[in-house]
Amino acid sequence: MNARELLEQSPVMPVIVIQDIDTAVDLARALVDGGVRSLEITLRSDAALEAIRLISQAVPEALVGVGTVRSARQLESAINAGARFGVSPGFTPDIARAARQTGIPFLPGVATATEAMLAADEGCTAQKLFPAQAVGGTALLKALYGPLPDIVFCPTGGINAANARSYLDLPNVKCVGGSWLTPEAAVAGRQWGAITELARQACAL
Ligand code: 3PG
Repeated sequence: MNARELLEQSPVMPVIVIQDIDTAVDLARALVDGGVRSLEITLRSDAALEAIRLISQAVPEALVGVGTVRSARQLESAINAGARFGVSPGFTPDIARAARQTGIPFLPGVATATEAMLAADEGCTAQKLFPAQAVGGTALLKALYGPLPDIVFCPTGGINAANARSYLDLPNVKCVGGSWLTPEAAVAGRQWGAITELARQACAL
């Protein structure tokens, strides 16, 4: 699978922070039950690598990836734990090259035309627009489509159930990402039915 195909797996990609390792597998199951396939487990908590390992083993229907990748070394550790794709909030040639060597789909984060072009030069024509709402949202994506129609985006940052549709309607958006599918209180309260319902609604977008 390449990065463009990754974006076509489902219209939403949850951006997940696992605080309590005991919630990892149930949370992944709840999301998959709602129709989500790709899960971005971010390296923003100590439990992240263990969560990637556990979910990869226990929920084979999920396509587990690693997010918030800030170095080639982090990417390597996550792949060793079972990550099958990588996402970064920014673009560095070093990480993009490391990802290419491993062969896994990789989405670098970009916020400008220049960054999008630099990432495309490294072979990344599927990218994460981040932080999407803050840097211009749908207006920016429409503007980028003119000169860069071959680049496709997964916008994240400020996306929610109310504005996701306006992004998904754009020709250069294949999926959207965000944390709205995994509200902290619902995860801590183990409200798996509620999370499955959020995932279901998002997948119907
Ligand atoms: C990300 O890393 O993609 C963002 O932190 C997700 O942004 P959100 O919390 O606004 O959805």
